[in-house]
Amino acid sequence: MLHAAFSSRFASKLKQTNYQLLSVGSQLLKSFGSNSYIANNTWTATRMSRDEPIPSQPLSVAIGLIGPGLIGSALLRQIAKQAEKLLAPLHASKFAVVGLANSRQMLLRPEGVGLHSWEGDLAEKGEPLDLDRFASTITSAAIAASGSPSPDPTAPGPACAVLVDCTASDAVSSAYPAFMKQGLHIVTPNKKFGAGPLAQYHELRDLAERRRRRFMYEATVGAGLPVISTLHGLLETGDRVIKIEGILSGTLSYIFNTYKPGMRFSDVVTDAQARGYTEPDPRDDLSGLDVARKVVILARECGLEVELEDMAVDSLVPEPLRGPGVSVEEYMKQLPQHDESVASKAAEAAASGGVVRYVGCVDVEAGSAGVTLRTYPGSHPFAQLSGSDNMVVFTTERYRDRPLIVRGPGAGAEVTAAGVFVDLLQVIRSHPRA
Ligand SMILES: NC(=O)c1ccc[n+]([C@@H]2O[C@H](COP(=O)([O-])OP(=O)(O)OC[C@H]3O[C@@H](n4cnc5c(N)ncnc54)[C@H](OP(=O)(O)O)[C@@H]3O)[C@@H](O)[C@H]2O)c1
Repeated sequence: MLHAAFSSRFASKLKQTNYQLLSVGSQLLKSFGSNSYIANNTWTATRMSRDEPIPSQPLSVAIGLIGPGLIGSALLRQIAKQAEKLLAPLHASKFAVVGLANSRQMLLRPEGVGLHSWEGDLAEKGEPLDLDRFASTITSAAIAASGSPSPDPTAPGPACAVLVDCTASDAVSSAYPAFMKQGLHIVTPNKKFGAGPLAQYHELRDLAERRRRRFMYEATVGAGLPVISTLHGLLETGDRVIKIEGILSGTLSYIFNTYKPGMRFSDVVTDAQARGYTEPDPRDDLSGLDVARKVVILARECGLEVELEDMAVDSLVPEPLRGPGVSVEEYMKQLPQHDESVASKAAEAAASGGVVRYVGCVDVEAGSAGVTLRTYPGSHPFAQLSGSDNMVVFTTERYRDRPLIVRGPGAGAEVTAAGVFVDLLQVIRSHPRA
């Protein structure tokens, strides 16, 4: 959470540096109340209050959620709180989670899973996971409750079946095409499909267009921040994206916002690990793979045909410490011997008043994408970041002199789940009713 004093300092810095801020969370926005700054919440509200024609037949929404972990369980809490209130605005007669699954078990309840008792029900009454049966139960529950004359779940009509994947699993994401062929829309914070093999990605996009189903994954980049929807808005209104640069990892944001020349880089990594900011193995963050997946997603949205394996990624894990042969303990023990590489880059940057930041970049004009440790001048918005915030800077034809910025927490259960929830509502609103 940003402190108000920092917020206004940050705002005035941005004004000086000719950047526009799209989103930082409500506290900052309250503190300067200017029309040129749009809060994430405002954006969400705008997206959700569009005048849509009210169709005659109420919709029946059946949701299957795979992965009720940190994000999935927060989403279930949010749905429990909102479902009833959403029926009228969505012109729906039913809005229910009818299936839940973790890596071992599934709970199928066509009438609706108990949103306050699901944990015990899944553990005690769950049956072995069967993804095929899971998917077909979601679609048949939507059809049964809709009173649709057509039993075909892939046809337009009042039955809206949505699969929400809150896992990080390849096994689940590789089944998206099969799920969609059964009539399901897909909503996910899981990056595995969006950054997976390009051929599969195109296959799903084509399928979605032909079958009028949606694949939405806003929360894969910047969690609840409106990053992908902002990009869509720019592209759909005819802007030309020149470049997207982003600090896309909360962990690496924290590490480089904390690290100053003179410190030992290994001490900052150890501190981040002790605070629980890193994955159990910090190399999962420092390898840059997670950031690279986000960059692939953004690059593809810009029309670049990028494969994860082909992308240039500056790993912050020293070569001799990579691979499963080196344990986490051994890695942490040996890390101080490799401090010099980051220290020299940071000292060089500081000598000219700059900072180093670990950044994902999509250079649309050059047709390239990558993840690098770069130097930025002290006046750049990346240099003003604090804590573990994410920041994405869009340079476009319209926002060339004063790039558009989205900033805020890029992780966390509630904000990420809300990002997934907004996608879910978008999917429901755009479901082909006829
Ligand atoms: N945490 C964040 O702040 C954040 C932010 C943005 C995006 N995300 C993304 O959101 C997703 C979920 O993250 P999380 O932090 O909620 O993870 P998590 O707490 O580890 O939960 C993962 C869930 O997925 C289930 N699961 C794993 N493999 C499965 C499989 N093969 N089949 C069915 N279920 C499976 C797990 O079940 P078991 O309990 O049985 O293992 C668990 O319920 C990830 O893709 C992550 O990258 C997270």
